[in-house]
Amino acid sequence: MEIHHIAIAVKDLDTALTFYRDTLGIEVSERRKVPTEGVEVAFLPLENSELELLEPLDPANSIGRFLDKRGEGIHHVCILVEDIAAAVTRMKDEGAQMATEVRSHPDGTRYAFVHPKSTHGVLMELYEKPKP
Ligand code: CO
Repeated sequence: MEIHHIAIAVKDLDTALTFYRDTLGIEVSERRKVPTEGVEVAFLPLENSELELLEPLDPANSIGRFLDKRGEGIHHVCILVEDIAAAVTRMKDEGAQMATEVRSHPDGTRYAFVHPKSTHGVLMELYEKPKP
Protein backbone atom coordinates (compact mmCIF):
# COMPACT_ATOMS: atom_id res chain seq x y z
CA MET A 1 0.00 0.00 0.00
CA GLU A 2 1.07 3.56 -0.43
CA ILE A 3 -0.20 7.02 0.36
CA HIS A 4 -2.01 8.42 -2.66
CA HIS A 5 -2.58 11.87 -1.22
CA ILE A 6 -2.86 13.90 1.94
CA ALA A 7 -5.66 16.45 1.93
CA ILE A 8 -5.35 19.67 3.91
CA ALA A 9 -8.36 21.87 4.63
CA VAL A 10 -7.60 25.57 4.16
CA LYS A 11 -9.68 28.72 4.50
CA ASP A 12 -8.39 30.28 1.31
CA LEU A 13 -6.50 28.54 -1.50
CA ASP A 14 -4.64 31.61 -2.72
CA THR A 15 -3.33 32.35 0.76
CA ALA A 16 -2.37 28.70 1.35
CA LEU A 17 -0.56 28.57 -2.00
CA THR A 18 1.73 31.41 -0.96
CA PHE A 19 3.24 28.82 1.40
CA TYR A 20 2.88 25.50 -0.44
CA ARG A 21 3.71 26.78 -3.93
CA ASP A 22 5.86 29.84 -3.34
CA THR A 23 7.68 29.13 -0.05
CA LEU A 24 7.85 25.32 -0.10
CA GLY A 25 8.19 25.26 -3.90
CA ILE A 26 5.76 22.56 -5.05
CA GLU A 27 4.21 23.27 -8.44
CA VAL A 28 0.42 23.18 -8.74
CA SER A 29 -0.53 20.55 -11.34
CA GLU A 30 -4.21 21.44 -11.39
CA ARG A 31 -6.75 23.56 -9.62
CA ARG A 32 -10.45 22.93 -10.00
CA LYS A 33 -13.85 23.08 -8.35
CA VAL A 34 -15.37 19.72 -7.41
CA PRO A 35 -19.02 20.59 -6.72
CA THR A 36 -19.90 16.98 -5.79
CA GLU A 37 -17.47 17.23 -2.85
CA GLY A 38 -18.21 20.91 -2.17
CA VAL A 39 -14.60 22.03 -2.59
CA GLU A 40 -12.14 23.81 -4.77
CA VAL A 41 -8.95 21.72 -4.87
CA ALA A 42 -5.34 22.54 -5.73
CA PHE A 43 -3.23 19.46 -6.49
CA LEU A 44 0.47 19.59 -5.59
CA PRO A 45 2.30 16.49 -6.81
CA LEU A 46 5.15 14.98 -4.80
CA GLU A 47 7.42 12.06 -5.75
CA ASN A 48 4.94 9.21 -5.22
CA SER A 49 1.94 11.01 -3.79
CA GLU A 50 0.46 14.46 -3.64
CA LEU A 51 -0.89 17.13 -1.39
CA GLU A 52 -4.42 18.36 -2.03
CA LEU A 53 -5.46 21.70 -0.60
CA LEU A 54 -9.22 21.89 -0.05
CA GLU A 55 -11.16 25.13 0.24
CA PRO A 56 -14.88 24.76 0.98
CA LEU A 57 -17.25 26.15 -1.67
CA ASP A 58 -19.84 26.67 1.07
CA PRO A 59 -19.01 27.44 4.72
CA ALA A 60 -21.94 25.22 5.79
CA ASN A 61 -20.70 22.03 4.07
CA SER A 62 -18.60 19.33 5.71
CA ILE A 63 -15.23 20.95 4.93
CA GLY A 64 -16.55 24.32 6.09
CA ARG A 65 -17.75 22.80 9.34
CA PHE A 66 -14.42 21.00 9.75
CA LEU A 67 -12.62 24.38 9.50
CA ASP A 68 -15.02 25.91 12.00
CA LYS A 69 -14.54 23.13 14.50
CA ARG A 70 -10.86 22.25 14.12
CA GLY A 71 -9.28 25.04 12.10
CA GLU A 72 -6.98 24.49 9.15
CA GLY A 73 -5.09 21.21 9.01
CA ILE A 74 -5.03 17.64 7.76
CA HIS A 75 -8.51 16.69 6.63
CA HIS A 76 -7.85 13.15 5.42
CA VAL A 77 -5.15 10.70 4.44
CA CYS A 78 -5.71 8.63 1.31
CA ILE A 79 -4.34 5.10 0.93
CA LEU A 80 -4.19 3.44 -2.47
CA VAL A 81 -5.66 -0.07 -2.55
CA GLU A 82 -5.71 -2.67 -5.33
CA ASP A 83 -9.35 -3.67 -4.89
CA ILE A 84 -11.60 -1.25 -3.06
CA ALA A 85 -14.59 -3.59 -2.85
CA ALA A 86 -12.41 -6.18 -1.11
CA ALA A 87 -10.86 -3.52 1.14
CA VAL A 88 -14.27 -2.20 2.23
CA THR A 89 -15.60 -5.70 2.84
CA ARG A 90 -12.57 -6.41 4.99
CA MET A 91 -13.06 -3.17 6.95
CA LYS A 92 -16.67 -4.02 7.67
CA ASP A 93 -15.89 -7.64 8.56
CA GLU A 94 -13.30 -6.39 11.04
CA GLY A 95 -15.87 -4.03 12.59
CA ALA A 96 -14.55 -0.75 11.17
CA GLN A 97 -17.09 2.00 10.57
CA MET A 98 -17.27 3.44 7.06
CA ALA A 99 -18.10 7.14 6.65
CA THR A 100 -19.29 6.57 3.06
CA GLU A 101 -20.00 3.72 0.71
CA VAL A 102 -17.84 3.31 -2.39
CA ARG A 103 -18.27 6.23 -4.82
CA SER A 104 -16.79 6.89 -8.26
CA HIS A 105 -15.16 9.88 -9.92
CA PRO A 106 -15.94 10.48 -13.62
CA ASP A 107 -12.48 9.10 -14.54
CA GLY A 108 -13.32 5.71 -13.04
CA THR A 109 -11.43 6.17 -9.78
CA ARG A 110 -13.34 4.57 -6.92
CA TYR A 111 -13.10 5.75 -3.34
CA ALA A 112 -14.64 5.37 0.09
CA PHE A 113 -14.02 7.00 3.46
CA VAL A 114 -13.39 5.21 6.75
CA HIS A 115 -14.77 7.01 9.81
CA PRO A 116 -12.21 8.63 12.16
CA LYS A 117 -13.78 6.65 15.04
CA SER A 118 -12.21 3.55 13.58
CA THR A 119 -8.86 5.03 12.55
CA HIS A 120 -7.91 6.70 15.82
CA GLY A 121 -8.85 10.19 14.77
CA VAL A 122 -7.97 10.57 11.09
CA LEU A 123 -10.54 10.50 8.30
CA MET A 124 -9.12 7.90 5.89
CA GLU A 125 -9.87 7.64 2.21
CA LEU A 126 -9.36 4.38 0.31
CA TYR A 127 -8.70 4.81 -3.36
CA GLU A 128 -8.67 2.43 -6.31
CA LYS A 129 -7.20 3.61 -9.62
CA PRO A 130 -9.32 3.12 -12.74
CA LYS A 131 -8.82 -0.28 -14.34
CA PRO A 132 -7.48 -0.01 -17.91
CO1 CO B 1 -9.04 12.69 -1.05
